[in-house]
Amino acid sequence: MDHVLSIRNLTIDFDTPRGRVHALRDVSLEVPHRKIVGIVGESGCGKSTLISAALGLLASNGTVRGGEVLFEGKDILKMSQTDLRSIRGERISMVFQDPMTSLNPVLSVAQLMTDIQYRHLKRKPDEKRARAIEMLRQVGIPDPEQRIDHYPFQFSGGMRQRIAIAMALITNPSLLIADEPTTALDVTLEAQIIHLLRELHGSKFQSSIAFVSHNLGLIAEMCDEVVVMYAGEVIEQGSVRDLFHRPSHPYTQALLTCDPARIKKATRELPTIPGDVPNLIDLPQGCVFRPRCPKAFEPCGKTPPRPAAVAAGHEARCFLLAP
Ligand SMILES: Nc1ncnc2c1ncn2[C@@H]1O[C@H](COP(=O)(O)OP(=O)(O)OP(=O)(O)O)[C@@H](O)[C@H]1O
Ligand code: SF4
Ligand SMILES: [Mg+2]
Repeated sequence: MDHVLSIRNLTIDFDTPRGRVHALRDVSLEVPHRKIVGIVGESGCGKSTLISAALGLLASNGTVRGGEVLFEGKDILKMSQTDLRSIRGERISMVFQDPMTSLNPVLSVAQLMTDIQYRHLKRKPDEKRARAIEMLRQVGIPDPEQRIDHYPFQFSGGMRQRIAIAMALITNPSLLIADEPTTALDVTLEAQIIHLLRELHGSKFQSSIAFVSHNLGLIAEMCDEVVVMYAGEVIEQGSVRDLFHRPSHPYTQALLTCDPARIKKATRELPTIPGDVPNLIDLPQGCVFRPRCPKAFEPCGKTPPRPAAVAAGHEARCFLLAP
């Protein structure tokens, strides 16, 4: 099997008092073994919805209208709660934006890191503690033998995120999902965390990573492949090298021309493009980007474009590529 995660034609709606939000439409992407895939797009484009679906954690007002989410070949959407619980936190780990919300504040780091190894019945308590200390050392916590008995609030924001990464990797998962893991940190800490993730990924850990961000610079630095989302659709995807050198969808092109630093300098936010993201309850007919697209032409208002090949492994959803 080439891919750890394979999302195919995923379509998800949310029912709300205002109407039905078409949050994801026909979303397909792959996370290959040992690769880092960046998922980028402005606020509300569906990144977190995609991640929740991949974890089998869709909100109760959400409905999967179609598609599948294959993790190591098995459809997450069809798994029992018991199977899901045995995968989550073990084979698939998560790191979120704010470590304070993911680390239970009333437990010490030692307790947190022991609890997460609860499925490893053969490991003795002192063995679990030793592993946790070793893991803390690997993520750069100084004096881990002492610090392990401290509580999350006794660490700075950057250190808490390092602990969250240690907890996510201690089970040696096949897939690590990071949803905006550095957005709450300042630029220096962000750079350190990215460096740490890359370093861990390049050495001891075999995990594939799905890395959600709205920071194009970070994606360029960190990832092997990139998936660009817009208003609930994947509008372009390919290798980082290919996509940054040959952006083919007018939205990606606009993002990259707006960003003067291009690949070299990290921009903290996505550059702004004139116009607004469409209302996902009442989508425009045809191409979802048409109201903001400087290149729109006659066919764009009729039907939504299908993904078209730009090069091997690089595709974009635009009529300019395949009328
Ligand atoms: N439970 C829900 N009920 C109704 N609408 C929802 C729900 N969850 C998400 N949405 C809507 O679905 C769309 C996608 O939201 P999502 O949170 O996935 O975006 P995002 O790309 O993660 O944004 P951000 O960058 O702000 O985190 C948005 O329009 C959002 O308002
Ligand atoms: S399909 Fe048309 S409107 Fe959509 S991005 Fe391409 S040119 Fe622009
Ligand atoms: Mg989000």
